[in-house]
Amino acid sequence: LPKLRTTSFGRRLTLLDVTDSTQNELRKLAEQGAPEGTLVIAEQQTNGRGRMGRSWVSPAGKGIWMSLLLRPPVPLPLAPQLTLLAAVALSRAIAQQLPMLEIGIKWPNDLLVGGKKISGILLESAAEDERLSYVVVGLGISANLDVEDYPEGLMDKAISLKIASGATVDRSELIAAVLEQFEQLYKLYLEQGFAPIRTLWEARSVTLGKQTELYTPQGTVVGLPRGLDDMGGLRVELPDGSTRTVYSAEVGSGT
Ligand code: BTN
Repeated sequence: LPKLRTTSFGRRLTLLDVTDSTQNELRKLAEQGAPEGTLVIAEQQTNGRGRMGRSWVSPAGKGIWMSLLLRPPVPLPLAPQLTLLAAVALSRAIAQQLPMLEIGIKWPNDLLVGGKKISGILLESAAEDERLSYVVVGLGISANLDVEDYPEGLMDKAISLKIASGATVDRSELIAAVLEQFEQLYKLYLEQGFAPIRTLWEARSVTLGKQTELYTPQGTVVGLPRGLDDMGGLRVELPDGSTRTVYSAEVGSGT
């Protein structure tokens, strides 16, 4: 990564041609004591993982499939904040590299262009005594996928940066930008807490202020998302005027 301007993020790098999932590779390194900022990038994943047990399409040479190791000194219940931080970092990096695209964040961390998903984030963590011992942040950016790379039907809700912008993306430049934004925001978070991250997230959100269906493990919630709470949950105004905070859910289409 010739253009890297970070101090620790991406400074230890494993670059693989093919792997099942960069999450698995990095988790092994984490268990062996790898330091914060360690990065695994793969050209292709044969078993890429998405959120909610879904799979993630990761064809060779077409995208950015990578996992970054964090060792945040924070209690386990604050892990959702890091998910939101990752979304802000990624959106800022893409906006910087591709200023013609308007990027919105769908809660908690899908990045959308024109309502279609361009990247996904998956956090997997390990904890000891209710504190995070490490977090494996999986970042998948559909950079240069072409129409024929998408399985039947997926393009109804997903798109690549190349298709959206009309130009091939320089992947190493985008990776460097992501790592730089991520390191900056992570430092800010460690120094000042979640408040500044929360403001940045809210400013880029496409979820707030629109009637939304949220499929939580406890059932469907329909209401108006108003903002985040201190922990990173989504505050939803219900039809009866009361507020409910949702910490884990699938966001359905706005109604
Ligand atoms: C989602 O939106 O469901 C999250 C997708 C996360 C995909 C990335 S690609 C790199 C890393 N390795 C994986 O197996 N998944 C994440």
